[in-house]
Amino acid sequence: MLSVKAPSDLLRRLRARFDETGYTIDGVRERLGDVAASALAREELVPALRATKDVDPLAALIRLWWLGVPVSTAAVDLPLAELVQFGLLVKVGDAVQASVHLQPWETGGYLVSDRKVRPGDPAVRRDHVVGAGGASANLAQLVSRRPVSRALDLGTGCGVQVLHLAGRADHIVATDVNRRALDLARLSWGLSGIEGVDVRKGSMFEPVDGERFDLIVSNPPFVISPAARLTYRETGHRADDFCRELVRLAPAHLNPGGHCQLLANWLHVKGEDWQDRVGSWLAETGCDGWAVQRDAQDPAEYVELWLRDAAEQGTPVYRDRYDEWLAWFEAQNVTGIGFGWITLHASGTLDPVVRVEELPQQVELPVGDYLPDILDGITTAHRLTDDDLLAAALHLTEGVLEERVGVPGAEDPTRIVLRQTRGLRRATSVGTVEAALAGVCDGDLRLGPLLAAIGDILGEESLTPGGLRSLIAEGYFRLPILD
Ligand SMILES: C[S@@+](CC[C@H](N)C(=O)[O-])C[C@H]1O[C@@H](n2cnc3c(N)ncnc32)[C@H](O)[C@@H]1O
Repeated sequence: MLSVKAPSDLLRRLRARFDETGYTIDGVRERLGDVAASALAREELVPALRATKDVDPLAALIRLWWLGVPVSTAAVDLPLAELVQFGLLVKVGDAVQASVHLQPWETGGYLVSDRKVRPGDPAVRRDHVVGAGGASANLAQLVSRRPVSRALDLGTGCGVQVLHLAGRADHIVATDVNRRALDLARLSWGLSGIEGVDVRKGSMFEPVDGERFDLIVSNPPFVISPAARLTYRETGHRADDFCRELVRLAPAHLNPGGHCQLLANWLHVKGEDWQDRVGSWLAETGCDGWAVQRDAQDPAEYVELWLRDAAEQGTPVYRDRYDEWLAWFEAQNVTGIGFGWITLHASGTLDPVVRVEELPQQVELPVGDYLPDILDGITTAHRLTDDDLLAAALHLTEGVLEERVGVPGAEDPTRIVLRQTRGLRRATSVGTVEAALAGVCDGDLRLGPLLAAIGDILGEESLTPGGLRSLIAEGYFRLPILD
């Protein structure tokens, strides 16, 4: 059993050893080479095992902590007796094996989680602490970069979001329902030199009853399944109710101006528009809200994903679990499951705006760098009156290009597209008036006279300001208001 109290001195020495040996993200990639490093990112170990056959000090650390195979004690230059005493290593003959997964992370810190579950491993324990993965990185990329006073990481797991929040938040509260997760997260933070995290055990917002934050982040146990089997991914709430509850309860824990940023899954149910479903979660909050579906899977794909995630493919229980899960989806008329982001902003407005949309394309990372501009575009487009818009000096957002497609030799294009080369990388078809406006609006002239002039030149009915709202909401134009 892992000790909670691996002393900070031991963690400091371990960290120093990692630094000396080059057990860092770049060091591991360089030592493995691109092919083995990419295979490892897909959870394929064989190329990495081949690349570390010559067990130099760095290869020993990679094999021990990341690949999880036994390594001869002679090859490992670490305080083995202490690491065994505190449960981080176990002796196997004249070798040692890690009882946790310990890897460098992109922030420059380290993460400690349970050993990765791989095909052929015994069944995953219920309180398994999952390591950082694609979803963890997605949330970290999404989160606003603005410095805050108080931040909450709800469902901290191995503590990865705290590594990203450290240095940007004066006070960080990290919660989890799973004590083992909190124990391992403390090790992650100790190895990463992060001090002072306020750790609380409990479900949802219970541990922070009556408290408010400037930023709430959560990569929650969002998996929608018939039974709560694994704490890291599902809770036993009905269908997608856990995420809905998080959204519903979050505003009471936000300071004025605060943000809540979550990953979530939601159901697509026969006869219901998924956008209405998610939109209704957000509309109840009184906050400005932005929900984005990044991907959607059909029920079979979804079940396979999560059975594979727990290394259950090929096991005797696989077929029954697959069947039971699918039957449960069928009984509820589920046609698909959406994966996405939810952002709430406690703007304090009496006229909150909710935008729900699909964004399947690759976007510029990190989204957190330009999140304020996205939210600003959405709320500005919604709140300004037509008169305010006509009085504003619109300008084209940096990086927006125009594409014209047409029959060769033809005078007019059949299609004009405005394409964002930065940010969310949207593209949209526009008419000649919008295209003309994009060509001339540089932030100097007010929209009213500009639209009138374009109408005169093109001889077409000019755009109403209202017609521009979606282009402003989607960030093609920005709109500083003139005094
Ligand atoms: C998907 S993991 C995310 C871990 C980590 N924050 C990340 O970004 O990778 C979800 C975490 O939520 C925790 N959890 C499960 N049920 C919870 C609940 N009711 N309240 C708070 N946390 C919960 C799990 O123990 C797990 O650590």
